[in-house]
Amino acid sequence: MKPFEIAPGVYWIGATHPELRVFDDLLPTRRGTTYNAYLVRGEKTAVIDTVKAFKADTFLDNLRTLVDPRKVDAIIVNHAEPDHSGALARLLDAAPQARLYTSKAARLYLSGLLGHSIEALPVEDHPEVSLGGRTLRFIPAPFLHWPDTIFTWLPEERILFPCDAFGAHCCDERMYDNLVPDLEADFHAYFDALMRPYRDKVLAAVESIRDLDLRLICPSHGPILRTNPKQYPERYRQWAALPEIAKPCIAILYASAHGNTRRMAEAIAEGLRTLDVVVEIIHVTEVDESRLRAALESADGLLIGSPTIVRDVLPPLWRALSLLSTVKVRARHAAAFGSYGWSGEAVGMIEQRLRDMRLPVTPSGLRFKFAPTAADLESCRRFGERFAAETSAG
Ligand code: FEO
Repeated sequence: MKPFEIAPGVYWIGATHPELRVFDDLLPTRRGTTYNAYLVRGEKTAVIDTVKAFKADTFLDNLRTLVDPRKVDAIIVNHAEPDHSGALARLLDAAPQARLYTSKAARLYLSGLLGHSIEALPVEDHPEVSLGGRTLRFIPAPFLHWPDTIFTWLPEERILFPCDAFGAHCCDERMYDNLVPDLEADFHAYFDALMRPYRDKVLAAVESIRDLDLRLICPSHGPILRTNPKQYPERYRQWAALPEIAKPCIAILYASAHGNTRRMAEAIAEGLRTLDVVVEIIHVTEVDESRLRAALESADGLLIGSPTIVRDVLPPLWRALSLLSTVKVRARHAAAFGSYGWSGEAVGMIEQRLRDMRLPVTPSGLRFKFAPTAADLESCRRFGERFAAETSAG
């Protein structure tokens, strides 16, 4: 895609990747993605971010249609991850006189990624750079989504360049939010995958830009946001905020092949409800990832149940457990349960996963062979009572 002017003297010079179907082997992308980089012209010229390495030729060709790279005065690295720094070495070669501005953390990461030390002016000591008639002002935004992240604000045009924040993996050459259909799903999925683990940092970053009179948001992936741009930080704020719950909340997530683990879950829930707690019971195959994430991040205690099938936890329950690393967990403890027929490894495997995620496992797991008896179900109720008491005690 050719460069285009976004505002007077401000250009998109990135690259598109429409055929991509899984970003970073992590996040499915329905419509590929874009690696957005920008050029800002005042009396001097600045480049904000680059692109993934295999798109370096496209990026440099786009840059050269607008300026001789030897006349680039400043390069801003908002974030060092290779999808934005992959063409940096080529740009530095082509623009040897340019001064590089980035956070101290990004400078460290770039040195590791490029294999040699990087000369850069830390934005902590240089909070803005004047281009002559244009100013680039740097705003720390750590953990959106790496520790190194900064936003760059261009006050004369009221444009925010927030790198990954407010992005979407969506490649559509119309490139503006009001022209790209069904952007909302991609925008939300991107938040869930990349930003949700850092909810508190999202809230801090959104607060730090609250007073900016945004006209445009130019993220590093997907369309430029020009339709009431303040709505996008506001949506991040709403998604990052947890609902206020007056009572301790306990979530039971379970899978059940033959209904036996489900019966255990229901009996445990009865035990939980004998105390003054909120109980959410979720059959993991009946809800989407967003619901699972919400339960995992809002619970004060987590109970995870699976039968053992072929010496393993059921795959949908594994997938639910994989989401633990994608949210900020506030649970103080967790426990496992499940029925089994022969060897019964699942409960121990769940407990290990919970410990690996730094969740204290208490009480020890509960498992019964084949269908739980009336006595087994009574044990489940007592297990629930004990779990609720521990959660309530904090
Ligand atoms: Fe799009 Fe964190 O890189």
